[in-house]
Amino acid sequence: MKYIYGNFKMNSTVSDVKAYLMTLVTNTRDEKNEVAIALPYTHLTTAKEYLEGSVVKLGSQNVAEEEKGAFTGEISADMLKDVGVDFTLIGHSERRNIYNESDKSVNKKIKMALAKGLEVVLCIGESLQTKEAGKVESFLKKQLEEDLKGLYENELKSIIIAYEPIWAIGTGKSATTKEIEKTIAIVRDIVAHIYSEKAGKEIVVLYGGSVNPDNFKSILNTKGVNGALIGGACLDANKFSSMIKSL
Ligand code: PGA
Repeated sequence: MKYIYGNFKMNSTVSDVKAYLMTLVTNTRDEKNEVAIALPYTHLTTAKEYLEGSVVKLGSQNVAEEEKGAFTGEISADMLKDVGVDFTLIGHSERRNIYNESDKSVNKKIKMALAKGLEVVLCIGESLQTKEAGKVESFLKKQLEEDLKGLYENELKSIIIAYEPIWAIGTGKSATTKEIEKTIAIVRDIVAHIYSEKAGKEIVVLYGGSVNPDNFKSILNTKGVNGALIGGACLDANKFSSMIKSL
């Protein structure tokens, strides 16, 4: 089974998303692969209604570190559960880079999300500078060690890792399948090192970064890749559905 996750980022309105979801639901009826979509907070309640009875999982793109209280502008894990959200993205590079989210914060968010019964898609990935300096492995090791700090191996069943090299996100320049295979093997080795060989083998790892209808199949067929996290190319319901169907 493959995992096809979409990330809307800050796009569309609630009225747009209704038509989108109707198309997606129709096109994914009887789908055997896992299909999921991370929407803006304002869309979630409506989306839940439209996804009722479908196979499509519903996610948010972020979650608060704290449980509740004086945190103006934040949305808690309880609030997300309350409107029927299944999973949340955590640590997307846009959160890390534009909003200065640290690994410490990512770690707190993961623990909060899991404690409240949300599944987690943990996004990791190196910058172009790190890549050019030849430091991808040490960077990812530090990122994963800090993000997963204090988490138990049995909690990994509720965590998906999305490897998204920052230089490939929204640039139209995806990593090559060779690069993806190599780096995802590194990610699995790191997880194996932190937990166990079994954990490294079993953790679900997605690739993200300029996945589109042209490269989708070859990326999904790359060794070690369980699926994809798709930004720009998920925004058109027909395009997104046809990628899913091409599997
Ligand atoms: P992209 O975004 O597919 O538009 O590159 C992927 C992501 O940021 O999750």
